[in-house]
Amino acid sequence: MKDKKIVHGFSKKSRDEKLGLVTEYHPDPLSALAVFKSFHHPDAKTQKLLEEFSENTITNFPLPYCICPNMLVNGHSYMVPMVIEESSVVAAASNSAKFWFTRGGFTTEIIGTEKVGQVHFIWKDDKSLLRERFPALKELLIKECFDITENMIKRGGGITDIELKDLTDKEPGLMQLYGTFETIDSMGANFINSCLEQFAVTFKKWHAAQKEFSKDGLEIIMCIVSNLTPNCRVRTYVETTFDQMDNMIKGVSGKEFARRFYLGVRVAESDPFRATTHNKGIMNGVDSVVLATGNDFRAVEACSHAYASRSGKYTSLSHVELTGTKFRFSAEIPFALGVVGGLTNLHPLVRLSLELLGNPSATELMGIAASVGLANNFSAVKNLVTVGIQQGHMKMHLLNILQQLKIPENRKEEVIGYFKDKVVSVSAVRNLAEKWHLIEAEN
Ligand code: MEV
Repeated sequence: MKDKKIVHGFSKKSRDEKLGLVTEYHPDPLSALAVFKSFHHPDAKTQKLLEEFSENTITNFPLPYCICPNMLVNGHSYMVPMVIEESSVVAAASNSAKFWFTRGGFTTEIIGTEKVGQVHFIWKDDKSLLRERFPALKELLIKECFDITENMIKRGGGITDIELKDLTDKEPGLMQLYGTFETIDSMGANFINSCLEQFAVTFKKWHAAQKEFSKDGLEIIMCIVSNLTPNCRVRTYVETTFDQMDNMIKGVSGKEFARRFYLGVRVAESDPFRATTHNKGIMNGVDSVVLATGNDFRAVEACSHAYASRSGKYTSLSHVELTGTKFRFSAEIPFALGVVGGLTNLHPLVRLSLELLGNPSATELMGIAASVGLANNFSAVKNLVTVGIQQGHMKMHLLNILQQLKIPENRKEEVIGYFKDKVVSVSAVRNLAEKWHLIEAEN
């Protein structure tokens, strides 16, 4: 560890200067430098592009770019790109996608595409007068944003409404302009934030011009998009009859499977501890598509979990219905996704992901990502209520351990065969590998 001197001007240094400085904090600066450099892209132009996505970039951090084949959504078969480091997620999604491919696939419905942004302010003047004059103010707010909204309006979007909200019961004077927006194929955060900052300028000017209001009667606190977009939401579902699920798990009838699956989802609907893990399983699929398509997974995460708590109690995002002999599994997921702007035109792999998906609209992408989430959720709950989760997980985990212990390629199958009916752990694999002389024994 270096001394505690503050580092000035780090961002102004060149990448190599930064690397030199940073690696001094590592116990073995030379080898750290070599590893960092080994992850630089061989093409200098691409490397520069990657570096410019962020600040203080010193190297790249690769994650696996994987494919979930056979993802049938609204009758289209997709090869869905998924960027994720967790070994079992893509296998689970692919498994599920293949199962549902022959049973009608996933069907999606867009429930809404409304985005939200707010100007939070403190109001010390007459509230009723503000309410009374709000229709005129609203018209002005929209009009004075025209330079920003013109292009979006041409594409069919823009500001859809502005409401005045009163939060004075929470904090004296606290109110907000609650704006709703249609941002078509863009995620919309930049567009919305620009509109909101213009709202604030117009609002202040308008306030100053009304003679009944005082000089300090309006204080703008902040203008910011909301990542909670409950009305920008997609529903995805799969459905089939019980007999179509006979023996999906060996020896288990479709009817019995459906009953246990239903109970598995009821647990998540009833208990926030289980719901959190259940929804995490959905987000495994969703986030990996969101990442592969250059979208903001933090926004998607924040939104989905806030939405899962909308009743005041955190609950499952997916639900099961059993009617007669019919099984229907669905989820509703709110997202703000974009297929234009942001990284979409800049990152070569993001571009490729979107091309691979047939250049979908933002709403199509919502449907695909939500369906992958539901596919993952189906696999997870299916295993949990039947054979347990560890069987599948450990199979993938074993592959990682084999890699980690550097088991020779030509002996891996034998080791995998040996662990077919045994509990996998790093030490169990190491012991076997030592016994079979696949690796050197530890002292
Ligand atoms: C692991 O990443 C996800 C699961 O825990 C989800 C679930 O429990 O439903 C398997």
